[in-house]
Amino acid sequence: MSAPAFRPRQPALPNRFLPYGRQVIEEDDIAAVAEAMRGDFLTTGPYVGRFETQLAKTVAANHAVVCANGTAALHMAARALRLGPGSKIIVPAITFMATASAPHLAGADVVFADVDPNSGLMRPQDLVDALKRAGHADAVFNVHVNGQCGDLEEIAAIARTHGAHVVDDACHALGTGYVSDDGHVTSIGANRFADLSVFSFHPVKAIAMGEGGAVTTNDPEFAKRLTFARNHGMTRDPEAFTNIADAFDADGVPNPWYYELVEPEFNWRANDIQCALGLSQLGKLGRFVARRRALAAAYDTKLAALAPIVRPVARTRRCLPALHLYAVLIDFEALGSSRGRVMRRLQQHGVGSQVHYYPVYRQPYYAQHHDAGALPGADLYYERALSLPLYASMTEADVTFVVETLAGCLA
Ligand SMILES: Cc1ncc(COP(=O)(O)O)c(C=O)c1O
Repeated sequence: MSAPAFRPRQPALPNRFLPYGRQVIEEDDIAAVAEAMRGDFLTTGPYVGRFETQLAKTVAANHAVVCANGTAALHMAARALRLGPGSKIIVPAITFMATASAPHLAGADVVFADVDPNSGLMRPQDLVDALKRAGHADAVFNVHVNGQCGDLEEIAAIARTHGAHVVDDACHALGTGYVSDDGHVTSIGANRFADLSVFSFHPVKAIAMGEGGAVTTNDPEFAKRLTFARNHGMTRDPEAFTNIADAFDADGVPNPWYYELVEPEFNWRANDIQCALGLSQLGKLGRFVARRRALAAAYDTKLAALAPIVRPVARTRRCLPALHLYAVLIDFEALGSSRGRVMRRLQQHGVGSQVHYYPVYRQPYYAQHHDAGALPGADLYYERALSLPLYASMTEADVTFVVETLAGCLA
């Protein structure tokens, strides 16, 4: 590799640290939150429904159910699918651990699938192999790592053949599009090739709610179960009441205090303050995604000088990615340096970085409880992965600074 000589600059960006990801909050976002705080509700109020309507419209789904965070959304998805003790699910090994842990806490056993070592995404053959090891599966939790998606149609077809539901963990992929066999572009979250899609609105994601998450679906029955799973499993619908003597007054009018427990669930609600911020941010999604794509294109061009030691993760054919993260693969072995050392040097020079992800099947809990054998694609992806700063308020000068600093830290 012919890396340019390293001159640590304190350039365009004095006293500035570029994290690997961060929120972009503007004055109108702050005004929207302040407005919500002047309202009558700090918990479930009008902003919750407004956010859900707007999110469903944005991703072209029939229903969106907003909740406390992406982990809660995964748990609600598991509950909506009635996963529990005795259920088995397939989860790709490269993901945030919540993709496995939330449905596991609902009772499901997890079988990990391998991934493409160059994109981090589960391939159809990885799913077939995992299904063979599992014997059967009730659901496949497919993960759109970095905001990219793989072959959704084939994955959905394989899952269907095995009688398994598909949940898209789209926490990285709000704003991503998929070009299907018929040439149509489908939004991730529209659920054309999934039953449910799960989103996170953590500050490093495409839009921020502080903490926040949602599940989208086109199935009214799933939507109903998701709302139960969000709110204690309770109903206030008189039509659904079964303890008639307690539920209704002598004249047949429902008692005003009365509600019934359908099945015990948690409180996974999002509040009006979160949803006011989410609604304001959702209006900016197109702009944020366009900016991320432009910055990623600038990275692609500038990083060409560092090939073959540094390469962007492989882009998939059918995907119009929202690029939640800008991940590169670095051949640390050929470089003769360690990732930890490079990350520490980057940090010292004002550049944040992160690894997405340590393969979940190697986490001590899952290694003890869910023997996956070796998953070489996931291991190879993990060994080389590094996420560089990417967020909508970055400039091209920031990208140049990151690439030059990286070149210096590798030299
Ligand atoms: C792929 C993936 N799934 C699930 C989650 C969980 O989302 P949250 O942090 O909102 O609970 C995250 C968040 O980092 C994620 O990246």
